[in-house]
Amino acid sequence: MAMMKKTCGFATFLMVLIMNSYSVNASSSSPQAIKGVYYPSWVSSNLSPSSINTKLFTHAYYAFLTPNNVTFKFDIEQTQEAPLLLNFTSTLHAKNPPVKTIFSVGGAAEGPVLFSRMVADSSSRSHFILSSIEVARKFGFDGVDLDWEFPQSPEDMENLSHLLDEWRGEVKKEAKATCREELLLSAAVYYSADTFLSGPQRSYPSGSISKNLDWINMMNYDYHGGWDPTLTGAQAALFDPKSNVSTSYGVESWIRSGVPLSKLIMGLPLYGRTWQLKDPRSYYIGAPAVDVGPGPDKTGVLTYSEIVKYNKDHKAKVVHDIETVSVYSVAETIWIGYDDTKTVAIKIGYARALGLRGYFFWAVNGDYKWKISKTASKLWSL
Ligand SMILES: *[C@@H]1O[C@H](CO)[C@@H](O)[C@H](O)[C@H]1NC(C)=O
Ligand SMILES: *[C@@H]1O[C@H](CO)[C@@H](O)[C@H](O)[C@H]1NC(C)=O
Ligand SMILES: *[C@@H]1O[C@H](CO)[C@@H](O)[C@H](O)[C@H]1NC(C)=O
Ligand SMILES: *[C@@H]1O[C@H](CO)[C@@H](O)[C@H](O)[C@H]1NC(C)=O
Repeated sequence: MAMMKKTCGFATFLMVLIMNSYSVNASSSSPQAIKGVYYPSWVSSNLSPSSINTKLFTHAYYAFLTPNNVTFKFDIEQTQEAPLLLNFTSTLHAKNPPVKTIFSVGGAAEGPVLFSRMVADSSSRSHFILSSIEVARKFGFDGVDLDWEFPQSPEDMENLSHLLDEWRGEVKKEAKATCREELLLSAAVYYSADTFLSGPQRSYPSGSISKNLDWINMMNYDYHGGWDPTLTGAQAALFDPKSNVSTSYGVESWIRSGVPLSKLIMGLPLYGRTWQLKDPRSYYIGAPAVDVGPGPDKTGVLTYSEIVKYNKDHKAKVVHDIETVSVYSVAETIWIGYDDTKTVAIKIGYARALGLRGYFFWAVNGDYKWKISKTASKLWSL
């Protein structure tokens, strides 16, 4: 103890003493399971932060904030968003039990270019990093999540590794200077570490990820969708004997990449994808289709709770596919592929058997009466 250079006051000194006396237990127990959920800010008028059932989650991600595309700093003050951010963190920290809050940067709608530009320049990286830390502290977040969809080239991947090195460096420095716990740093990543279905071959910088991030959220979904309206598909199949486009392949590629199991979080969708069949009698997975099916803005996306209602209203036939661990429903020409409590239960079993750290959902508004979230949480804690 005498060798410690500097502690943050008496409280920390006491805490170090207490922790040391429990160190035998502490080191043998596994790290806290992560049960994450994304909160898209655009659902806030239908679903307030206070209505989140915090018994089912450990971390909630506010989605999304985006830095200015010239300065790479966050301009929260100029937007209407500041009160919602404060409401999100203060509400969720005050709930019983509380959940930790993280803000997520970017998202699918932002696309890849902003981040490619930001990471390619060291002063842009530095502006982004310092601004992200300032926003986290100002609005009471416990951490920051990078949702770059997706790095497009080996150069992007290399520059991402610089960003992560520098980000963790600044987070450590800030924690030391202010005597606070280090902010959490996470990232939402592609389903696979090194197999991309479009663009040049590239691999995530797994060394930098392992060293600098608390964990990564593997986006184990969106394998098939409206971008291919001619064939139905299981958008989040656990297994696919015919291709590498599956959750098991993706998760195992991340394990092979060397990122520790304690940093791997499996993604689970609370939504499904819809098609219009060419022939209602051919409704297998991969059957010919002519277009996307129901869903706002012609995206062919419905939340799980919308699918439950759709199936009921249309007396749809529901089929569980054992081979892929997925479920689909058919009502006349409408085909919907999704996940339910049964498929999620099997995925949780798979994730636990491998020794992953936890799971996350996209997104909180999709569940039906918290049924899937409850199934996952209960099974993870058994
Ligand atoms: C930055 O964002 C503005 C406003 O959305 C847009 O008009 C502009 O084209 C963007 N610039 C770059 C370089 O992406
Ligand atoms: C958050 O917003 C809700 C709905 O507007 C409000 O009822 C609640 O009091 C706010 N909570 C905090 C902690 O600001
Ligand atoms: C970004 O990556 C490319 C390719 O590795 C490298 O040449 C370049 O120096 C990097 N930029 C910065 C600012 O690190
Ligand atoms: C799947 O990936 C493995 C390597 O990870 C490769 O050897 C194999 O050819 C791939 N299979 C398909 C169908 O792409």
